[in-house]
Amino acid sequence: MTSSASHVHHDGHGHGHVHGHTHDHGDTGQDDSLAEVLDLDAEIFAPYLTSVTARIAELAGDGVRHVVDLGSGTGTGTSALLERFPHATVTAVDSSPAMLAGLVEAFRAKGLGERVRTLEADAGTGLAGITDADLVWASASLHHLDDPATAIDGIRAALRPGGLLAVAELDGMPHFLPDDAVADRPGLETRCREALDGLHAEQVPHLGADWGALLTASGLVVEQERTERLELRAPLPAAAGQYAHAVLGRIRGAVDGLVAPADLAALDTLLDGGPADVRHRDDLVVRSTRELWLARRPAAAA
Ligand SMILES: C[S@@+](CC[C@H](N)C(=O)[O-])C[C@H]1O[C@@H](n2cnc3c(N)ncnc32)[C@H](O)[C@@H]1O
Repeated sequence: MTSSASHVHHDGHGHGHVHGHTHDHGDTGQDDSLAEVLDLDAEIFAPYLTSVTARIAELAGDGVRHVVDLGSGTGTGTSALLERFPHATVTAVDSSPAMLAGLVEAFRAKGLGERVRTLEADAGTGLAGITDADLVWASASLHHLDDPATAIDGIRAALRPGGLLAVAELDGMPHFLPDDAVADRPGLETRCREALDGLHAEQVPHLGADWGALLTASGLVVEQERTERLELRAPLPAAAGQYAHAVLGRIRGAVDGLVAPADLAALDTLLDGGPADVRHRDDLVVRSTRELWLARRPAAAA
């Protein structure tokens, strides 16, 4: 039951997982652009997601029947976990009705509607009577919650004794561009990223929290902790340019007013379909750091 936590740094190729982090609720356009980023991210970094679900299966064993996807978004994790655990059903929990509606439609279209149910809820306030989850998957969602410590207590209560919580987080937006991507604005992406980090510090203060400590404080036993620094270089997957465009478009929206007008104009040249547009460039390198914690609710004392 008690295992030591391992911490592995890995500079890998072909793995990763990335999200936008602006506040999206109640704004359909923002939901749409987030949905696009989430789906492209899952496509580009599919090998990483596959490796993560394999790691989960090693600890969870064959008996996984009920999975909760907490902050499910478009269902990238739901999809990967349905495939990994063919006898499982997934409860997709999200506070965004638009995300859940899209998810339901997508899984119905794939013929998997019977294996997915949805729960529209603030995941920070408990999981509506769920007490039998074999696995809770929380990818890029816990940092959105107002009070993650209370939320983790709620997750613990939703897990059966012996059940697993997988927390996947990331260090912010991915990087794509060389320093001189726009000749007269060197360092453009770094400045935008710094502006975004400042915004995140205000809007999503739990981004980068010490999740291992929070899980332990809630009485969960952290069995694995991994950090992977991911880097994709040419030849990139076909969707990489569109992914860069979707992410940088969201960054453009978030940093409007926070960076110099000349930087905004330079960002526009990367997005406007012209010769510098990220969808046409051959100098993109996709870099992102992903973290994973796997923690178990201890089995009940005999
Ligand atoms: C960055 S997305 C991650 C989506 C998905 N887990 C993935 O990795 O592709 C965060 C998701 O959490 C949802 N979310 C944010 N705050 C929430 C809350 N308080 N309760 C439930 N879901 C929430 C958002 O609507 C969004 O779908």
